[in-house]
Amino acid sequence: MEKLEIELNVNGKVLAISVSPQKTLLEVLREDLGLTGTKEGCSEGECGVCTVLLDGLPVRSCLLLAVDVRGRKITTIEGLAQGDKLHPLQTAFIEQGAIQCGFCTPGMILSAKALLDQNPSPSEEEIRVGLSGNLCRCTGYIKIFRAVQAASLR
Ligand code: FES
Ligand code: FES
Repeated sequence: MEKLEIELNVNGKVLAISVSPQKTLLEVLREDLGLTGTKEGCSEGECGVCTVLLDGLPVRSCLLLAVDVRGRKITTIEGLAQGDKLHPLQTAFIEQGAIQCGFCTPGMILSAKALLDQNPSPSEEEIRVGLSGNLCRCTGYIKIFRAVQAASLR
């Protein structure tokens, strides 16, 4: 299929790329832009590991076509740190031991960021609801919830 020339706004930069119209945002991020922090799990909208922010809200990048998010603001895990300084959520996940294999972590952190941006002091219940679309196969969820709580207090 013929490729399309599109521009995507990723982590504050407008990037011009040539993509097949049927490519998902997840595929374009990983394969065309080299942003492999966004992970691929189920590829069918169930696990949440491919979560990125679209205009500040969490979305599953495996379910979106890249051509459909032209002109929208996309944030991936690579866009959170400021130079060498980690985002408070990244620091909190490390400090609380909320990471094991790390596969779910980018999606978890981006869902948590969207939650804290809307609700800077969430209750544990609100954190559970905010992260309910993200599955972790390793740590269990208690340390992850604690990390989000800790980041909310910074
Ligand atoms: S890879 Fe997108 S939801 Fe699982
Ligand atoms: S840390 Fe391994 S899937 Fe969550």
